[in-house]
Amino acid sequence: MGCIMDVIECMYKRRSIRKYSDKHLEDEILLTLIKAATAAPTACNSKPWEYIIVTDKEIKSEIKKKLYFAQYDAPAMIVVCGNMKLAMSGPVRDYWIQDCSAAIENILLAATSMGLGSLCIGLHPVESSARPLYKILDLPNEVIPLGVVYLGYPAEEKEPRTQFDEKHVYWQKYESRKHRARKKNSKYL
Ligand SMILES: Cc1cc2nc3c(=O)[nH]c(=O)nc-3n(C[C@H](O)[C@H](O)[C@H](O)COP(=O)(O)O)c2cc1C
Repeated sequence: MGCIMDVIECMYKRRSIRKYSDKHLEDEILLTLIKAATAAPTACNSKPWEYIIVTDKEIKSEIKKKLYFAQYDAPAMIVVCGNMKLAMSGPVRDYWIQDCSAAIENILLAATSMGLGSLCIGLHPVESSARPLYKILDLPNEVIPLGVVYLGYPAEEKEPRTQFDEKHVYWQKYESRKHRARKKNSKYL
């Protein structure tokens, strides 16, 4: 499958899509997304990630029921997990979070480049979101679900954008001149 979209254009185009058409996602497409995920950088090449593709209606609905802020219907979900038996030990153990986060972003960008809509939902470290997935997905204790990506053909359109703000940028060293607290009434979605 050819992707002609420029990478930066694709990054701007990636938006959180919360409305999907019912159109089925082929297994081949889902596997292409996992291939993109597993091209991400990973500390010491440890590859602590594991992916659970969920297309079964019942299982999707069980997951959705437990995620208060994810009340959307998507044809497919990919649950991205870190396996602590594969992660490194010692002070670098938590790099699994960066590895899996990079993998998630790769899924989102690959999906965008293929004309799909996607939404990233956070699980770990929010106990009340991650915990219910152990039972639903038969996860062993050493596997930690970091996030779930909702996927499907989009049924809403959003403007491409960057959220560039020079206030977030420092040159050479940090300065204490800039925003120090979250703005009141700032938008979550
Ligand atoms: C770690 C993480 C957790 C998120 N959790 C949710 C969520 O529970 N529900 C939701 O609708 N969106 C969730 N989002 C999506 C954000 O709301 C979205 O990325 C943000 O509003 C910026 O919009 P954009 O993705 O369209 O650029 C999450 C994003 C991240 C990175």
